[in-house]
Amino acid sequence: MSSFPEILPPDELPVLYSPLEIAEQVNRLADEIRLAYGEEFMIVALLKGSFVFTADLVRALYNSGCRPQIDFMTLASYGTGTSSSGTINVERELSDDVSGKPVLIVDDILESGRTLDYARGVLRERGASDLRIAVLLEKPGKRTVDIEADFVGFTIPDHFVVGYGLDYANYYRELPFIGYLD
Ligand code: IMP
Ligand code: MG
Repeated sequence: MSSFPEILPPDELPVLYSPLEIAEQVNRLADEIRLAYGEEFMIVALLKGSFVFTADLVRALYNSGCRPQIDFMTLASYGTGTSSSGTINVERELSDDVSGKPVLIVDDILESGRTLDYARGVLRERGASDLRIAVLLEKPGKRTVDIEADFVGFTIPDHFVVGYGLDYANYYRELPFIGYLD
């Protein structure tokens, strides 16, 4: 498990995507999701990392003509380090019934795929129909399980990224841009 020696001030982080670049991709994703799902479906957002993306995505979905129901599930796979522990726990459960509903899983980033594979398994078991996945970011060539997202904001180089909900040791989630540490 690797770790970074210090928490850099946000203004020293190299920027990968600006707020404007992010907003353009979020709007594009909303249009794609509207075409695929129609007006009504359920969003299950995976916390904590997806909270900023989800907040922007649902408002873009409103503008694209969608009226989704929204629920959250907290899964943990990383602890406070920068490499996966490989173990996934449900820290906080869904509060709604997903059975028979078309469900879009929303997460911040698809890397090994273990988190989303686990979430998909849980939701499938509970009877969600038409399960699809939207992620803001994906790192190609890092998958350890066979899974791809249906809707992808950016395919990114192999950096440890932070900001816009993504953290290092629970820091940097508040940044309006996406930066990287390595
Ligand atoms: P996976 O299970 O390996 O696909 O990793 C997914 C989860 O790991 C994401 O939901 C993030 O919380 C976290 N993660 C993966 N890569 C990064 C990164 O570059 N920065 C911050 N968090 C990451
Ligand atoms: Mg995380």
